[in-house]
Amino acid sequence: MTVQQRPSTLKSMPGSPGLPLIGNSLKFARGTMVASHDWWDRYGAVSWTNAVGQRWINVEGPDACGAVLQDRDKVFDASGWSLLIGPFFKRGLMLLDGAEHHRHRRIMQEAFTSERLAGYLTPMNETIGRGLDAWSPGALQFYAAIKQLTLDLATRTFMADDIGAESQRVNTAFSDSVRAATAFVRVPLPGLRWTRGLAGRRLLEEYLRPRIAAHRAAEGTDLFSALCHARTDDGEQFTDDDIVNHMIFLLMAAHDTSTITLTTMAYYLARYPEWQERCRQESLALGSDALDYGDVDKLASLDLVMKESMRLVTPVPGVPRRASRDTELLGFHVPAGAYLAVHLWGIHHMKELWPNPERFDPERFAPDRREDKVHRYAYLPFGNGVHKCIGMYFGGLEIKAVMHQLLQRFRLEVAPGYRMPLDWVSLPRPKDGLPVRLVPLHARMAG
Ligand code: HEM
Repeated sequence: MTVQQRPSTLKSMPGSPGLPLIGNSLKFARGTMVASHDWWDRYGAVSWTNAVGQRWINVEGPDACGAVLQDRDKVFDASGWSLLIGPFFKRGLMLLDGAEHHRHRRIMQEAFTSERLAGYLTPMNETIGRGLDAWSPGALQFYAAIKQLTLDLATRTFMADDIGAESQRVNTAFSDSVRAATAFVRVPLPGLRWTRGLAGRRLLEEYLRPRIAAHRAAEGTDLFSALCHARTDDGEQFTDDDIVNHMIFLLMAAHDTSTITLTTMAYYLARYPEWQERCRQESLALGSDALDYGDVDKLASLDLVMKESMRLVTPVPGVPRRASRDTELLGFHVPAGAYLAVHLWGIHHMKELWPNPERFDPERFAPDRREDKVHRYAYLPFGNGVHKCIGMYFGGLEIKAVMHQLLQRFRLEVAPGYRMPLDWVSLPRPKDGLPVRLVPLHARMAG
C-alpha cells in the first residue's frame, strides 16, 4: 500500500496500516515501535503506518532524521508533540513553533548561561550529598532511589524548595503526566492513564502558581527565579502563565531524561567494573567530594560512559513532527498535516553506522575514534535543529555531579549475568527497577 501522492516525480512511500481500526497503536503504546529496527529493515528510511488514530510517517536513519530535524524549509512543526503531550505540557518550549518559539527560547537561554549553570551546581551538590547520605549499603532498587534524588534535585535547583512531604504527590504528578503521552485510550475517563495525566498537570499548576510572586521578588540562584528574571537585551520577558508552563515542561524534560541516563550509566558501570574503577579514579584525583564547576571537563571517562549510555538507551527514543504543508522527504511526498516519528533510538543502533552497535564500548567516543562523527546526524540524543535540547549542559552537569559523589562513596554491583530489561512506555526505564548492591568505600575523601 502507498500513501496518496501528488507530484508524479516522487517515489511511492512504502508502509502498512497495522491491525484494522487500531493500526499499530498497541505497539506504539508499548513503545516497541520506536525502539526497534522493524521499519528500517522492512521499508527503509521513510515509511507510513497508522497509530493513535493518525497516519504516521516513520523517519529512520541519519539522512531522513537529519533532514526533518534541520528543517531547512521550515515545514515540520512541533505540533506532533502537542498531539502526544499537549494537554499535560502545553506551551512548554518544545511545543512552540516559529517566531514565538524563537522569542521564548531567547528569553529562556538567559537561564542556561554558564554563570547560571555554575550557580545551580552549589545547591545541586548539597542535595546530592544529603540524598546519598540516606542510601544504605546493600541491596538497592536503583531506579526508584535515583528518581527520588533527581526529583529532590529538580525541586531544590529549580525552585529552591524543599518539598518534603509533598514530594510523593509531585513525583506522581510528573510521572502521570509523562506516561499519559503514550496512552492508548485518549479520553478523560476515570482511572485511565490519560485522566491521571490531566490530574497531574492540575496539581503541578496549583503547586507552582502561588510561588511565582516570591520568586519574582527575590534574586535567587534557582531556575524558577532565573525564569522570573530572564530578560533579553530588548527587554522581552515571561508572563506568569509562561513561567508556569515553562516550569512544568522543564521539570519534566530534566527529570526523566536525567533519571534514565543515570540509571543506564549505573547499570553499565556495575556490569563493567573496569570502567567503574576508571571513572572513580578520575573523581578521586580531583580531591573533592563535591564537583567543582571548573573540574567538569576533567571527568573524561565519565563523559565517555555518559555518551555511550545515551546511545545504547536513548532517553528520548523518538521525537514527533507534523508537516505544515505539502513537502518532500528523500524523494517521498509528505502531505500537509502528516505526522512524522523521528526515530533517534534507531540511528544509535544502526550497524551501518556503529561497529558492533549493541556492545558497551565508551571508547568509541574517544578523540582517536569518534565513531559519532561517521555521519553528521549519527548521534542525536539531544535532537538537532531549532528544538535541540536547551538543557543539555545542565543535564550533563547534573549527571556528572551525581556520579562524581556516588562513585566515591559506593561500589555498584549487579548479579552475575544480569541484563537490565527495559519498559518502553513513554521514556525507557528498567522493568525491574535495576536491583544493585551498594558496597561502601571507606577511602572516601572528606568535604
Ligand atoms: C540526558 C538529559 C536530556 C536528554 C537526553 C534530552 C533530550 C532532549 C531532546 C531529544 C530534545 C529535542 C526534542 C525535539 O526535537 O522535539 C530536547 C529538548 C528540550 N530539552 Fe532536553 N534532554 C535532556 C535534559 C534536559 C534538561 C536537564 C532540561 C532542562 C533543564 C531540558 C530541557 C529541554 C527543553 C526546554 C527542550 C525544548 C527545546 C526547544 O524546543 O527549543 N532537557 N531534549
